[in-house]
Amino acid sequence: MTNADFEKIVDTSDEWIITRTGIKERRIADNSITTSDMSVAACRQAMDMAGCSNDEIELLITGTVTPDYRLPSNACVVQEKMGLPNAAAFDILAACAGFLGGLSIAQSYIETGKYKKILVVGVEKLSSFTNYKDRNTCVLFGDAAGAVVLEASEESSGIISTFVKSDGRYRTLLWSEIGGSLHPHQQGVDPLGRDKIMMNGSDVFKVAVREMANAAARVIKDAGLTSSDIALFIPHQANIRIMEALAKRLHISMDRVFKNIDRYGNTSAASVPLALDEANRQGRIKPGDHIVMVAFGGGLIWGSALVKW
Ligand code: COA
Repeated sequence: MTNADFEKIVDTSDEWIITRTGIKERRIADNSITTSDMSVAACRQAMDMAGCSNDEIELLITGTVTPDYRLPSNACVVQEKMGLPNAAAFDILAACAGFLGGLSIAQSYIETGKYKKILVVGVEKLSSFTNYKDRNTCVLFGDAAGAVVLEASEESSGIISTFVKSDGRYRTLLWSEIGGSLHPHQQGVDPLGRDKIMMNGSDVFKVAVREMANAAARVIKDAGLTSSDIALFIPHQANIRIMEALAKRLHISMDRVFKNIDRYGNTSAASVPLALDEANRQGRIKPGDHIVMVAFGGGLIWGSALVKW
């Protein structure tokens, strides 16, 4: 869906969207394609890349706010569709930080020796949850999935440090008011769009820049490194101006910040694994490189991970 497509449905312009967000187009899944379908496609590609068979997976964690059903979890649907007989499967609700939250949980399970092979998926069908009458939000979001296989290893490479933090006092800056147990969904569509994503963009922007910079600095410090040791930063693709402000705070140039927001928009939990995969396939990450992934989202919640490739 291009910016020109949005000019036809809300009062906006290609120029406004590009200047304020950096987004030119996003991918919108067909009605027949579900969040679990996109998850399966991403998991299959990750498992092929890792040379990993279905029965080796012991845990499947999905980060998503748009599961196929309210119950069961997206992870259990994916488990059934893929056939993962030896896995436990559950979702985490950490919005755009869902992939990094999942990575942090997986790292802990692997470090304690509980599981040896874990699939972590970040996936969203945000088009099912977007108010296409609200120009403040609808131009931002797209659909996507990304997945990684993590395994126990004696090598010095891999996840070196992770960090997750949240502050529920900001919960109404980015939220959906209707559809939970407090205000159960009624028949029909809420005329005010409160069953869809609602956001105070400028306030989210400020917290995002501050806390993503803190989260990135934290994993770099925990790893005993400095930002000059980091070959590539892979931030959540929410807004090009947020990424630029983040780079400024971390005193790094934008050529060390991976960007693909122009083609996908904000894909929430899928954004970081999608960017990681593209960066890898483009040869932007070499063995031995240190990379930092960092994200923030509704909660508000934010997280980061430092990986030696
Ligand atoms: N097209 C044209 N005008 C738009 C618009 C659109 N799609 N969306 C908002 N505007 C208007 C607003 O109505 C406002 O008009 P007004 O001054 O007449 O009231 C004006 O643009 C400025 O709005 P503002 O919200 O101050 O713009 P901004 O520079 O903060 O940019 C965001 C808006 C949403 C792009 C920006 O705040 C942002 O990216 N925030 C972070 C959001 C985010 O990342 N959310 C996901 C977190 S995971």
